[in-house]
Amino acid sequence: MEKTALYSISSGVFLLGTRSGDGSKINGCITNTCFQTASNPTRLAVSVIKQNLTCRMIQESGVFALSVLDDSCSFGTISRFGYQSGRDADKFSGAEYALGANGCPFLLSETCAVLECRVLNEINLESHVLFVAEVCDAVTTGKNAPLTYARYQAEVKPKREGKAEGEKTIVGWRCRICGYEFKKPELPPGFECPICSHTAEDFEPIYG
Ligand SMILES: Cc1cc2nc3c(=O)[nH]c(=O)nc-3n(C[C@H](O)[C@H](O)[C@H](O)COP(=O)(O)O)c2cc1C
Repeated sequence: MEKTALYSISSGVFLLGTRSGDGSKINGCITNTCFQTASNPTRLAVSVIKQNLTCRMIQESGVFALSVLDDSCSFGTISRFGYQSGRDADKFSGAEYALGANGCPFLLSETCAVLECRVLNEINLESHVLFVAEVCDAVTTGKNAPLTYARYQAEVKPKREGKAEGEKTIVGWRCRICGYEFKKPELPPGFECPICSHTAEDFEPIYG
């Protein structure tokens, strides 16, 4: 199978915000796997890595808000929500956000739309959970075009620095997106993370 053929499927980039079951904690992560799956009634599906805190919190609360990121979105926003876990950081602290009617956080800038959703069903995809949801409310928040995953990869994400500094020996590579570890000093050409499908650019060295 030519896996790179799947790169031709276009997608956007979103902040998937949610809350704990009792509403005492909020969190969110970046996702690019979100699609409208039906229009009457309006349904969408979003796929979330099982080990993400966001996944567990959506399972607990059954609700989420999707901020559709726009072309003005900075890498800072994407790294705040997509390159660290809510287990280690309060990602919304210092961010411009508000809570929707369902108690889930959404961004007040860098978005062109916000959708508030309620989970109807979840499907186990082994590495991910696919949540199928009802769209309870939808608001246009700006006139900029939605950020596409292709533009994120080509223009928003900084290019990876060259070689590691110093004398340190690289013994493996860790995916900065999902934490998967590849335990060999060199990533094979065209390598893709087996958990989240991100490419070599999203891997950081593990030193011996
Ligand atoms: C551009 C981009 C796209 C991503 N797409 C997804 C995705 O589709 N599904 C997912 O679960 N995680 C995706 N991630 C990874 C999560 O945002 C990341 O693992 C996050 O740190 C999880 O945080 P949490 O543990 O607080 O939920 C993506 C990250 C980036 C930067």
